[in-house]
Amino acid sequence: MADLEGNIDAKNFNTDVPASEFGFYVKGAGNLDYGMKRRLSRIFRPDGRTVMLAFDHGYFQGPTRGLERLDLNIAPLAKYADALMGTRGAFRTSFPADGTQSLVVRASGGPSILKDLSDERIAMDMQDAARIDASAVAIQVFVGGEKETQSVHNMTQMVDAGLNYGIPVLGVTAVGRDLVRNSRYLGLATRIIAELGAQMVKTYYCEEDFEDVVSGCPVPIIVAGGKKLEAKDALDMASKSVAAGAAGLDMGRNIFQRVSPAAMIQAVGAIVHDGATTDSAYEMYLDLSGGAND
Ligand code: R5P
Repeated sequence: MADLEGNIDAKNFNTDVPASEFGFYVKGAGNLDYGMKRRLSRIFRPDGRTVMLAFDHGYFQGPTRGLERLDLNIAPLAKYADALMGTRGAFRTSFPADGTQSLVVRASGGPSILKDLSDERIAMDMQDAARIDASAVAIQVFVGGEKETQSVHNMTQMVDAGLNYGIPVLGVTAVGRDLVRNSRYLGLATRIIAELGAQMVKTYYCEEDFEDVVSGCPVPIIVAGGKKLEAKDALDMASKSVAAGAAGLDMGRNIFQRVSPAAMIQAVGAIVHDGATTDSAYEMYLDLSGGAND
């Protein structure tokens, strides 16, 4: 306890200066609690955008190209990302604990690629998310799938738990093979996820009316990369996504399956945060990768 003797009376109250008010820049998050805002502000930079690196694929498909060794393939890329999306097993085993990036931790799972992928359950509790210092947890939601209600229920349970702990939920739209990734479907899925309480939604880009999907969703939309494309096409998708109002990208294979993943994630970052065009980002990619067009 401070020594009471020698205490100097307070006098500089700046009575003519109104108390600070803090608006909040993340879409739909103005009424959230302090801890939620702190965590969201670790994921989204003050420009409201994020570059998230996704490498949680092993939770259902085991090792895949580019993810053979998370400590060697992915950990060195962390410095280029605002947020890392992975499993708790990946973080605890393969990433140093002194990293500064926010962690978005996969919290649904169950079936492998050998089974019905939509049959997921909650695979991690919110206490462990707090323990591992998660800035958010990610839950897959299968709107239109056979296990739609179950997957929505997984998410809503985690939203409730997250509100207790101040940890946001990223609802991930999983589009089954027989569903079409158009604005009608993506608008439906993203809106359902946001209205049921997720503080962010990850979804796919679609060429037509993607801006309607973004506008109709009251929380930030982060666009998933999907299967590997030509480098320039992937950058073009990133560029069109943010131009349509997306709050960033959460790319996996389009980064870690390249000859130069570090060059690609920096090029994506230039689009998301620095206003680079597709062409200038592609030039940057070629430059940083030593001309590797892969
Ligand atoms: C898949 O279920 C995971 O959420 C991946 O993180 C997601 O698909 C993004 O990875 P990619 O850009 O490789 O599609």
